[in-house]
Amino acid sequence: MYSLLHIHLSRMLSANLPGERGVTREGLAGLAPRLEGIRARLAEMVDSDTGTFANTFRRDEPEKVIQLAESLRGQFRNLVLVGIGGSTWGTLAIQAALCHSGWNELDTTRGDRPRFYFLDNSDPEALNDLLESIDPAETLVNVVSKSGTTAETAANFTALAGHFRECLGDSWRRHFVLTTDAGEGLLQRIGREEQLPVLDIPPATGGRFSLLSAVGLFPAALLGVDVRALLAGAEAVTRAAIDRPLEHNAVLQSSAASWLCYTDWARVNVLMPYARALRYVANWYVQLWGESLGKKVDRQGQVRHSGSTPLGALGAADQHSLLQLFMEGPLDKLVTFIKVDHFPRPCPIPGTFASHPEIAYLGGHDMASLINAELESTAEALRLEGRPSRTLVLPEVNAFYLGQLFQFFMLETFINGELMDLNTFDQPGVEAGKILTYGAMGRPGFEAREADLADRMEFTGD
Ligand code: PA5
Repeated sequence: MYSLLHIHLSRMLSANLPGERGVTREGLAGLAPRLEGIRARLAEMVDSDTGTFANTFRRDEPEKVIQLAESLRGQFRNLVLVGIGGSTWGTLAIQAALCHSGWNELDTTRGDRPRFYFLDNSDPEALNDLLESIDPAETLVNVVSKSGTTAETAANFTALAGHFRECLGDSWRRHFVLTTDAGEGLLQRIGREEQLPVLDIPPATGGRFSLLSAVGLFPAALLGVDVRALLAGAEAVTRAAIDRPLEHNAVLQSSAASWLCYTDWARVNVLMPYARALRYVANWYVQLWGESLGKKVDRQGQVRHSGSTPLGALGAADQHSLLQLFMEGPLDKLVTFIKVDHFPRPCPIPGTFASHPEIAYLGGHDMASLINAELESTAEALRLEGRPSRTLVLPEVNAFYLGQLFQFFMLETFINGELMDLNTFDQPGVEAGKILTYGAMGRPGFEAREADLADRMEFTGD
């Protein structure tokens, strides 16, 4: 028997808040018919084995990924992940959550697993630093790009492949694994020509929803993460979203509550985990929410300029930074806290300065009780100011609960997109920028766009 993460919504209910923010039980009840429709669509996607949320139910693809990772185990001292956006944030979140924070320094925590590096930008210093830090002979590079043509990833791939070829001759090929769309694309072609292993991303799975496909599972498996547990966690949440009655359905209820806040006043959507291990979950979430729901038009073609602005924060550190704004700035933020119930290693605070009552009171407590007391106190302080928040409780940070957390947010994003009646899975704004970059860099077939860009730059005087 497994347990599911909890979400506490009581500090979002207007009955529990002074002032005018928050949601009412009637408001939530009024959404029931629409939620039932969305739930049916989700069930259909899973049952018919199509779309993003069917991924985690497929057994053969993860097993292929695990096998390849196992066959490479112990052969490389370094793993370099090359990608950007949805092709890297998920893996960064998994690595930060489940690997020791001194992963690259401490051989004892890594065992025979590789050090972890990544390139997710077109930053010349980042590339030069990496080339100076790794020995190609000891390094495996995983290039991840759904489209295969994203300029930043293509540039980093090209540079690394060139460098590895120069250093290693023909055997450079043993050092690359490509992850890309299963259809016919550039990386599939290069993989065939150069005889590099290629892992497939299911065509229906978009970048920011892809971390539980080969995109995140392969690097995670190389790092020793229990990827079957990640998938099991994600599956459990999807099943609960589909099967549980509405009143006990955390995903549907919390999605409805956040949607009601959005339609009324919530223009900023803050995610604030109180665990350093989850800091990149906030970055991943920012991309997921922002790129999925920030849309000009809805499905009917009506101009909406939809979306609330996602903002990542880290508790307790950002209590000494952003919290002032959350407490006293514009009343336009919904804060989601993530609480970790159990931290695996005890961390007692000793009574070192017993004669100083100003700090002696901390002695005898565990650091975990301090961070969780800070979360509760902050949520309560916000409530007293009439500022809604909700708290997601993770029993502990492990692969199973992390899988749940990712799936919870992916489902919630999808449900909000359905309530907004928009396409959650496209990103026309991002695509436009990519196309203009191709033109600016001289990619054949994109010259007209280059001319457009030149015109615009002249007009703005840049
Ligand atoms: O979520 C998305 O679709 C985007 O953020 C992509 O992941 C990002 O643009 C990278 O694209 P690709 O994986 O095609 O290189």
